Amino acid sequence: MCDETVNRCECINKTFEQLKAFPDFETAQAKTSCGLECEGCVPYLKLMFATGETAFEIDDARLSGFQ
Ligand code: FES
Repeated sequence: MCDETVNRCECINKTFEQLKAFPDFETAQAKTSCGLECEGCVPYLKLMFATGETAFEIDDARLSGFQ
């Protein structure tokens, strides 16, 4: 298991699996404040809503489209 997997917003301690319950990034952010503190998870969250996946390599090549 790679420990460089990104699968949660660390700042609010919610997994992408949990956040995926919201219809889109904006709603998830409005309801949970995900991505507001360090903002490190924002590109991953956007990629999550775009792909439906809930765990990503820390250097996922697709992130360049979601900065
Ligand atoms: S990890 Fe999501 S805002 Fe910091």
